[in-house]
Amino acid sequence: MQNRVAIVGGGYVGLTTAAIFANAGITTHMVDIDEKKIEVVKGGKSYFYEAGLDQLVASGLKKGTLLPTTSYEDAIPEADIVISCVGTPDNPDGSPNLKYIYDAARATAKLAKSQLIFVQKSTVPVGTGDALGEVFKNEFPELEVSYVSNPEFLRESSAIADTLFGDRVVVGGDCAQAVTQVVALYKVMDTHKKEIAATAAITTGAKEDAHEVKVVETSLKSAELIKVTANAFLALKISFANSIAKLADEAHADINEVMDGVGLDNRIGRAFLNAGRGYGGGCFPKDVSGLISVANDHGVDLHIMGAATEVNASMPGYIVNLAKEKAGSLEGKKVAVLGLAFKAGTSDARKSPAVAVANSLAHEKAEVRAYDPYANEEAGPDLNRTVSLVDTLDEATKDAELVFIATDWPEFKELDYSKLDNGSVKFVVDCMNALEPEKITKNGIGYLGVGRGKS
Ligand code: UDX
Repeated sequence: MQNRVAIVGGGYVGLTTAAIFANAGITTHMVDIDEKKIEVVKGGKSYFYEAGLDQLVASGLKKGTLLPTTSYEDAIPEADIVISCVGTPDNPDGSPNLKYIYDAARATAKLAKSQLIFVQKSTVPVGTGDALGEVFKNEFPELEVSYVSNPEFLRESSAIADTLFGDRVVVGGDCAQAVTQVVALYKVMDTHKKEIAATAAITTGAKEDAHEVKVVETSLKSAELIKVTANAFLALKISFANSIAKLADEAHADINEVMDGVGLDNRIGRAFLNAGRGYGGGCFPKDVSGLISVANDHGVDLHIMGAATEVNASMPGYIVNLAKEKAGSLEGKKVAVLGLAFKAGTSDARKSPAVAVANSLAHEKAEVRAYDPYANEEAGPDLNRTVSLVDTLDEATKDAELVFIATDWPEFKELDYSKLDNGSVKFVVDCMNALEPEKITKNGIGYLGVGRGKS
């Protein structure tokens, strides 16, 4: 008989994983204590924007395999495998706050079967598995728990394709039988991946034909460290590109050309070398600070990651300064900020550098109107109170002298810049180097990118 799964925590990772497993025919409870979120999911939708997820939620409910609930009692007693996907926010000092991790583990253990496979998908510091193992052993001695680390690599905005066609699935643990059972879930998913992609109506390109899922089996601690190391390295690549972009600005080179040339080296690769306003979101900033903190606990100084963090934090202000050099003072100038999400394809504005760009402009006393097609609501509380949030692109750009493209949404990339208001726009600041400069300059509008020679 197939294992029954319960997913604890219905965030980006939990809901996506639950919806995909359910569509692969695996009976999957999804527990989240937030009643409002569960109500939305029970109604056949995701409560956040992620392309294709509404379809998978609706179809999982219809099949009867996706079982959303606010009650641990509904989900845990029958589950063979419990997958923890709860949040790990950062503490003010940058260390990860593991309260939800421990709460979820204890709440599960209280109700679990005597033999339980407990899978950690949340991003946790190396050593957390051993610490939780002690909690299970000391507080729930009657339980036999096999602990498995199965870190998540999905990206928001391509969460479904990343799960179905990811580069690898990492499963680490000391109990070989438990590892095999977790791997088996992905093998089931793998046999259904094409039909799930079709239900979600996502475009996957060549990935669809990729050979079967690549499973990497490791020790528990290696699996825990793989996840944060991968994210930290990607953050490092971005900050490296941004550092070279600053040099390119001074030296009148073009960072896109530089990185195209550099990235062709197979040892380096082109991905995550796009310069711009830096990284944000729910993962990179917190994973980097968490890694620095856990390294400190082990007496290891990861100052390379401290430098990456500093470069990242400098980018929104750096871009606003570039614009200031070009425009003179920004005080009182009408400025449109297009895009507030931390990247295109999501409504997520957590630690968004686009929000930081808007706030930095407000700090310069510019008159800022900001608009995002999906993230206005989430960005609102983080915006400086002098920034006006508006509902349309036209409202944002009306009479604007400067237009900042702060998130590379397709609708901003494809904009007809000749129609941009009635001649008020003097230049466009391309905070993610997402535009073709000629499309702007041919309309008599100035273009300013990041690391493009202060063009
Ligand atoms: C990331 C990891 O990619 C994913 O594997 C992990 O599971 C979660 O964290 P995510 O945060 O969803 O995913 O977004 P990602 O696409 O990686 O982008 C992160 C940030 O980096 C965004 O703000 C993006 O705009 C920025 N970025 C990315 C750059 O500034 N330059 C680049 O070249 C690439």
